[in-house]
Amino acid sequence: MQKLAIGIIGCGGIARDRHLPTLQSLNDEVTITAVQDINIDVAKAVATEFDIETVVTNYHALFPLVDAVMICTPNKFHAEIAIAALDAGVHVFCEKPMAMNQYECEQMIDAKNRAGKCLAIGYHYRFTDAAQTAKKAIDNGVVGDSLVTRVQALRRRKVPGWGVFTNKTLQGGGSLIDYGCHLLDLSLWLLNDAKPVEIIGKTYNRLSKSPTQINDWGPFDHEQFEVDDHVTSYITFEDGSSLQFECSWSANIKEDTRTLSISGVDGGINLYPFEIYQPRFGTFFVEQAYAAHDEKIAAQRQTHNFIRSCLGKETLVVQPEQAQNINKIIDAIYRSDDESASVRIN
Ligand SMILES: NC(=O)c1ccc[n+]([C@@H]2O[C@H](COP(=O)([O-])OP(=O)(O)OC[C@H]3O[C@@H](n4cnc5c(N)ncnc54)[C@H](O)[C@@H]3O)[C@@H](O)[C@H]2O)c1
Repeated sequence: MQKLAIGIIGCGGIARDRHLPTLQSLNDEVTITAVQDINIDVAKAVATEFDIETVVTNYHALFPLVDAVMICTPNKFHAEIAIAALDAGVHVFCEKPMAMNQYECEQMIDAKNRAGKCLAIGYHYRFTDAAQTAKKAIDNGVVGDSLVTRVQALRRRKVPGWGVFTNKTLQGGGSLIDYGCHLLDLSLWLLNDAKPVEIIGKTYNRLSKSPTQINDWGPFDHEQFEVDDHVTSYITFEDGSSLQFECSWSANIKEDTRTLSISGVDGGINLYPFEIYQPRFGTFFVEQAYAAHDEKIAAQRQTHNFIRSCLGKETLVVQPEQAQNINKIIDAIYRSDDESASVRIN
C-alpha cells in the first residue's frame, strides 16, 4: 500500500503528545520523514524520542522530502507556513485555529485552490463519538429546525502558561481563539453551517492579570498576560436561530463545564452527557446514549481522514472554508468588544 511521507513543523506539546504518537500508530499508512522546529534542540529531542531520521533547520527544506506537513506552531505562523507548503505542492494539516484572522484564512484557501492539495484544520472535536452521533441524529431530523443553541467551554483555573498562549502578537487572542473555537466549530457543523448575521461579544481578563489568582496548570506571568481569559457572545443566524456562547480559561465557577445543547422545533440534543429530548406518544422522552468525548480516539480518526484525503480516498471532514468561518466569528466577537457594539456579518 502507498504510504504518505509526512513532516512535522513545530515540535512542542501538541506534536509530541498527540500527533507523533497518533502517526506512529498509523505506520502502515504513513511514514514520519522529518521534523523541524525553530528551536533545533527541541526538534532533535523529538527526532530521537520518535526515531525520526531527518531534522531540518528551515521548514522550506522539508517540502522536497515529504507529501504532507503538519503545522504545530503558534498561531501567528500557521498562514505563512501553510501557504509556503501548498505553493511547494505539499498537502497541509494545520492545527486550530486556522490562522490569526479571517483574511489570513482567505490567503490559505487561495493557496490551496492554486495547488489543488488538501488543507485540513485540526478541529478534532468533530471526530468524537458524541459529535458523530449528534450529527447523524440531527441529519435524521431529531431536532428539526434549530432554535436556540447553548455553548459553554469553561475551565475554572486552567490558563496555559507555557509556550506563547498568553501572548497576543503570537496567538491573536486567548481563551476564545484557543479553546472556545473548538465548540464554535462543532456547533456550526451541527447547525449545517448556519450563517451568522449579527454578533455581540464581551471579553475579560481581570482574573488572570491579578497576581493573587491560583492556576491548576501551574504559574504564569500575570503582568505579561495580554489576552482574554473569559468571553461571552450572542450570535444570531440568518434563519432566525441563535447561539448563546461562553468560554473561559479562568473563572470563579464550581468546576470545569462543557455544554453544547441545541433546542429545535422537533426535539433537542445535548452532547455532554449525550441525550436526546423528544415529545412522543403524548409524553416527553429523555434518551441517553454512550457517545463519549474521547479526544484520543478523535485525533486518530482526524489523522486517518487527513491521510486518506491526501491519498484521494476520502473527503476532508473539516473543510478550510468552514474553519475560516470560525475565524470570522472570532474576529467579530473581538471587534464587538473593542467597539462596544454588535457587529453585522455580510
Ligand atoms: N487541537 C487542539 O486541541 C490543540 C491543543 C493544543 C495546541 N493546539 C494548537 O497547536 C499549536 C501549537 O501549540 P502547542 O501546544 O504545541 O504549543 P507549544 O508552545 O508547546 O509548541 C510550539 C512549538 O512551535 C515551535 N515554533 C515556534 N515558532 C516556530 C516557527 N516559526 N517555525 C517552527 N517552529 C516554531 C516552538 O519552538 C515550539 O516547540 C497552536 O496553534 C495551538 O492552538 C491545538
